[in-house]
Amino acid sequence: KKKATGHSHAKVIFLGEHSAVYHQPAIVFPIPQANVTATLQASPQGVTTIHSQYYSGPITDLPASMAGITALIKKLHQELNPQHQPVALEINSTIPLGRGMGSSAAIASAIIRGYFSFFEVPLSRATLTEYTDIEEKITHGNPSGIDAQTVNVSHPILYEQQQFFDFTPLLSGFLVIADTGVAGNTKTAVTQVREFLEADPVRQGLITRLGHLTEMVKTSLTNQDLIKTGQSLTEAQAILTALGVSTPKIEQLVVVANQAGALGAKLTGSGLGGCIIALAADYHSAKRVAAALTDHGAAQTWIQSLTELNPEE
Ligand code: MEV
Repeated sequence: KKKATGHSHAKVIFLGEHSAVYHQPAIVFPIPQANVTATLQASPQGVTTIHSQYYSGPITDLPASMAGITALIKKLHQELNPQHQPVALEINSTIPLGRGMGSSAAIASAIIRGYFSFFEVPLSRATLTEYTDIEEKITHGNPSGIDAQTVNVSHPILYEQQQFFDFTPLLSGFLVIADTGVAGNTKTAVTQVREFLEADPVRQGLITRLGHLTEMVKTSLTNQDLIKTGQSLTEAQAILTALGVSTPKIEQLVVVANQAGALGAKLTGSGLGGCIIALAADYHSAKRVAAALTDHGAAQTWIQSLTELNPEE
């Protein structure tokens, strides 16, 4: 019996959230440690169905919160399956929702890859991004469109002058990601920052500084300088706090990570919940940081080897 599976993974913004909204650069890392698979086969029932941890049933009855996925699947059927052969779609995701890890874009990406593979149509990177964007535009307020880019590649992405570039410095070290257990809200956070900035023009300097820090990290990553990179992450956290998007829980986890030996730590994504990231020099230290974060109430942690993100030789 014919089956096809599409894979995708999470992402985290390494540096540049919020300032990216004001056209400053951002650096984004794929996180293969947290991932999604979408498996397709012919449906034994007469209708196309979806089976996932969030919803199971005919795609015509998907909840409104999944309108982006509904639109995407509709488009995929129009383009790849004009005869409307019913399919059974099974989605398995280990990416938590609403934590700035790109869960919706990753689910979309895995579905797209699964469909193109099942219907044996070649899929270009441009088409993959275009289709992921169909879902992302409906699902959220993610003005920069960063997620759709990074869930589709296995190396870092640089967002600069409102364009996306492959960013492939030779990486080392480990990234620890910890979930605060609280969902963030991108729309609220972005609006809150805009109001904060508009209240006093001097505050725009915080955005400019985040932009400079991102430029510095671009250089320090390229120079394989993890110490400097970590220091910039920590400074960015102070600025994000000044912008009002940190929380006591985020602050606490950042302190815990640094005390456990991280080279630097900050929130990632929109803030007001979501995840933190911490940079660690080696696996041993990453394990120690992750354990300390769990001890202090992180809902879940991931350890991502950065070497794994280097282009294959
Ligand atoms: C949200 O994941 C990141 C923000 O910078 C918004 C965006 O870039 O679209 C807060």
